Amino acid sequence: MKKVAVLGATGSIGGNTLDVIARHPERFRATVLTAHRQVEALAELCVRHRPDLAVIADPALEAELSRRLAAAGVRCEVASGQAALAAAAASELCDTVVAAIVGAAGLDSTLAAARAGKRLLLANKEAIVMAGPLLLEAVAAGGGALIPVDSEHNALFQCLPAQCLPGQPDLRAGGVRRLILTASGGPFRGHTRAQLANITPDQACKHPNWVMGRKISVDSATLMNKGLEVIEAHHLFAAPADAIEVVVHPQSLVHSLVEYVDGSVLAQLGNPDMRTAIGHALAWPERVETGVAPLNLAACAPLAFEAPDLVTFRCLALAFQALRAGGDAPAVLNAANEIAVEAFLAGALPFLSIADVVEAVLAELPAQAVVDIPTLCERDRVAREAARRVLRNAC
Ligand SMILES: NC(=O)c1ccc[n+]([C@@H]2O[C@H](COP(=O)([O-])OP(=O)(O)OC[C@H]3O[C@@H](n4cnc5c(N)ncnc54)[C@H](OP(=O)(O)O)[C@@H]3O)[C@@H](O)[C@H]2O)c1
Repeated sequence: MKKVAVLGATGSIGGNTLDVIARHPERFRATVLTAHRQVEALAELCVRHRPDLAVIADPALEAELSRRLAAAGVRCEVASGQAALAAAAASELCDTVVAAIVGAAGLDSTLAAARAGKRLLLANKEAIVMAGPLLLEAVAAGGGALIPVDSEHNALFQCLPAQCLPGQPDLRAGGVRRLILTASGGPFRGHTRAQLANITPDQACKHPNWVMGRKISVDSATLMNKGLEVIEAHHLFAAPADAIEVVVHPQSLVHSLVEYVDGSVLAQLGNPDMRTAIGHALAWPERVETGVAPLNLAACAPLAFEAPDLVTFRCLALAFQALRAGGDAPAVLNAANEIAVEAFLAGALPFLSIADVVEAVLAELPAQAVVDIPTLCERDRVAREAARRVLRNAC
């Protein structure tokens, strides 16, 4: 029986994870559930899944969580605060941790799980974009495993040989020439810059194929999500920037591909439903039912592929730029993007200006070597401040 901590249980990945877990009570048990501020939703999940521990990140809500659980007759430990999240991820209550908090806020708990040797199921791509080498070092030192949940990286994981899986030193040792990440193109594929000038948050969050949290939905619309994924693939599979390509595939059925030096190209396909990647990561190396509908290829034909538009969707080009700059440039990119997306969602920044903010912050803070986590977190703070300054000057 795997004891699973679901960090970010009230989110989209969290919900899908709990759905898969509930289908296999003989294999998996959700022992730790966490949320940020959705105390009512967290309490309801506790009633349904009966964890041993519930953590609410906002300490002001701990008493309310305790009250709700007591009223519902749920007996589980309750804790709050960021330190409690990390402690939960490293605790004996779990052997598997699903890192599904959104943004840099998930870094501490993801690292804590890695250091403690947990089987780390990584959805929180911002953590690996920020701290790639340090996170992989922590996984190696802890002696656990890292299995990507992001559908593209999970697809690559499934198509790669063992000598190319996370933590191995060189993608090419496995005879791999290229990693090809697919992108749906988001809700604005084919739009011109003029058409994107007055996009609203609700329009940006209406993804054609996936139902996701608001931050990743905006990232998908700007193609920053694909940029973060390029950096994630670089770290996970020791792939140089030149060996990673992005291709737009609007149907989101081919989740990514691996090209080998002999010309073979292996792809992983499936309906656009995150439960496939989550179920794979939970059960690996075995397989479990996930409730995902079978793929009907004839009904989906023809499958389409096209090159991404890097001029209209500049965030993808900026992510490649940060990856090539190396050091902490991806962390700076991520921090600036988080602030810009927050401002866009709050109605305080036009859609097209998200890239402007990221570009300005990258120009202001040239790449520095990544030394350790405290230095990286300080850099994250400075980049956020710079982004807020750019925002103030723009308004
Ligand atoms: N959704 C997808 O299909 C998908 C696919 C691939 C990768 N991912 C990645 O998975 C991660 C989660 O995405 P999502 O779409 O599931 O996001 P989401 O629906 O917005 O859920 C985010 C979760 O994180 C919690 N959270 C937010 N801020 C926090 C903080 N400061 N401290 C502690 N917890 C916090 C939220 O709690 P509250 O509910 O209380 O706010 C919620 O449980 C992201 O990194 C995303 O890029 C998502």
